[in-house]
Amino acid sequence: MSGDRPTGPLHLGHYFGTLQNRVRLQQGGAELTVLVADYQVLTDRDVAANLGEHVDGLVLDYLAAGIDPGTTIVAHSALPALNQLLLPFLSLVSVAELERNPTVKDEIVQSRRAVSGLMFTYPAHQAADILFGKSTLVPVGQDQLPHLELTRTIARRFNDRYGPVFPVPEALLSAAPLLLGTDGQKMSKSRGNAIAIGASADETARLVRSAKTDADRHITYDPATRPEVSSLVLLAALCLDSDPVAVAADVGPGGAAGLKKVVIDAVNEYFAPIRARRAAYAADRGVVREVLAAGAARAGAVADATLTQVRTAMGMAY
Ligand code: TRP
Repeated sequence: MSGDRPTGPLHLGHYFGTLQNRVRLQQGGAELTVLVADYQVLTDRDVAANLGEHVDGLVLDYLAAGIDPGTTIVAHSALPALNQLLLPFLSLVSVAELERNPTVKDEIVQSRRAVSGLMFTYPAHQAADILFGKSTLVPVGQDQLPHLELTRTIARRFNDRYGPVFPVPEALLSAAPLLLGTDGQKMSKSRGNAIAIGASADETARLVRSAKTDADRHITYDPATRPEVSSLVLLAALCLDSDPVAVAADVGPGGAAGLKKVVIDAVNEYFAPIRARRAAYAADRGVVREVLAAGAARAGAVADATLTQVRTAMGMAY
């Protein structure tokens, strides 16, 4: 299982960080659940604006990426039983543990606002996303590892305190757990530095051309000392299914302009069928509604059953 906040279009970092792994797992026979984390939108803003539109866009990105339309795709707000798991889960973690979470710390800095109780506790809510369906494997980007660690802690402590209910899930990282955005910072919907999966070929070209590079004319792959250039090289390599060192060597003296041309062509070619599929699904939003309704029904039954089991284990099913 995995999930995303419906705050805007998914980008290439999401695709190579987690979406591609979700599709691969599903094609390998895994039963996939995808959570549309609508309550989690409220961690860093007052209102979840244009939620219907963002949720539709998210589901379109999923289907475009190759996630099967028969997958359980479900929103927090459609799963009241999931939210009920939050309370016992909060009782299993200390305030100090919540305070230590580096991803939350970073998000607090980025959000430049007072820290809400939700911002502080959402990783425990995310544990409920993962555990309500007893999921075992969670394809995520590197920034989600602290949340996975907390989920594992919660699962273990619940089992120790009340008896075995939850599996202890594992994270699954991809070869590109972190792609940089056009400004050289982590690619992120909220930082305005991202190339959307559904972007047009022209928009892609414009964004790649605007990407930050460095002063060294000769292109090499060296993530530690040349993060911006290396992230572009990696992006091209991922699209070309090639090795980043080989891609860098091919460009070599071509410099940043040569590298960007390779990246633009590689991204546009790789994503052409994905973008075509997205447009086809977008023409009939009925499909999106049906996917969400079916997901809510299926996941609702699972979450209800888990909640009953949790309450029984806790001696609260009196
Ligand atoms: N916090 C994740 C993000 O910002 C989204 C998310 C919500 C998630 N629930 C999840 C990821 C459960 C994995 C599993 O990208």
